[in-house]
Amino acid sequence: MKDIEELKKEVRQLLKDRNAIMLAHNYQRDEIQEVADITGDSLGLSQAAAESDADVIVFCGVHFMAESAKILSPEKKVILPRIDAGCPMADMINAEQLRAEKEKRPGMPVVAYVNTTAEVKSLSDICCTSANAVSVVNSLDADTVYMVPDKNLSHFVSKRVDKKMEWWEGFCVTHEKMRPAEVAKLKEEHPGAVFICHPECNPSIVEVADFVTSTSGMYEYVKNSPAKTFIIGTEMGILYKMRRDNPDKEFILASDSLICPNMKLTTLEDVHESLTEMKNFVEVPEDIRIKAKATLDRMLAVPRD
Ligand code: 13P
Ligand code: SF4
Repeated sequence: MKDIEELKKEVRQLLKDRNAIMLAHNYQRDEIQEVADITGDSLGLSQAAAESDADVIVFCGVHFMAESAKILSPEKKVILPRIDAGCPMADMINAEQLRAEKEKRPGMPVVAYVNTTAEVKSLSDICCTSANAVSVVNSLDADTVYMVPDKNLSHFVSKRVDKKMEWWEGFCVTHEKMRPAEVAKLKEEHPGAVFICHPECNPSIVEVADFVTSTSGMYEYVKNSPAKTFIIGTEMGILYKMRRDNPDKEFILASDSLICPNMKLTTLEDVHESLTEMKNFVEVPEDIRIKAKATLDRMLAVPRD
């Protein structure tokens, strides 16, 4: 077993040797975020993947994220260091199920949360992330919009737009575990603390939050807020950057259940091994990629909320 500092140094060297860029989602392990060139939310990382001129993208996150990078940059090699890191929410709707829903709603635009497979994206009109979902829905010239797969994000958006919305009943297994009683207890123990959460949380959590936004939105919020204590309602990985960059503030995780096992799979050893052996590439069939790219490109043209 290598010393962790040695491992970090070797990974940085490998990234240089391969002309590779390492992107890490805000939920990744601390040491992965530390070594990464860019950390961020799904929207920020998609933009980074689209703009990068590296030959190789090492995507430390889950499958749909690396797949989006490949869709946007087919000429690059995209590595998902743990090829088995998936997102249970993204797997809650498949192409066949979406086709059936579309048949029931002729002409209704379909908004796919970026947490979907490439095939589901290829059947949708536009993508969204938690950072731009309201703007994306508002940008559509339609009275009613169908959204997949997250019922909680869809509900959140439906309360903030002047359109009717219908949606698929998927959810994030990690955020959905959080209970309002846990938040109430923490609020009682820390009077004056600000509670912020992710829109993947259940509406019973969202309605007691002081602010609801994407992971990077939460990071910016705590940095700019005059408050000193925050209760954080999203996956615990976000605490790394919050604590590192705000040493005078206190961050309390809203629930012990806020750990996404898939986001925690990737280790620095996996990154090292993938780059050394140049393996764990993500591929997308070209016919699906072209259609999914159009769906992602339409989203990238819409600004953040
Ligand atoms: P964002 O980082 O885009 O807010 O997404 C959260 C998430 O669950 C990604 O899997
Ligand atoms: Fe999927 Fe939820 Fe994990 Fe994000 S936190 S990758 S939505 S299971």
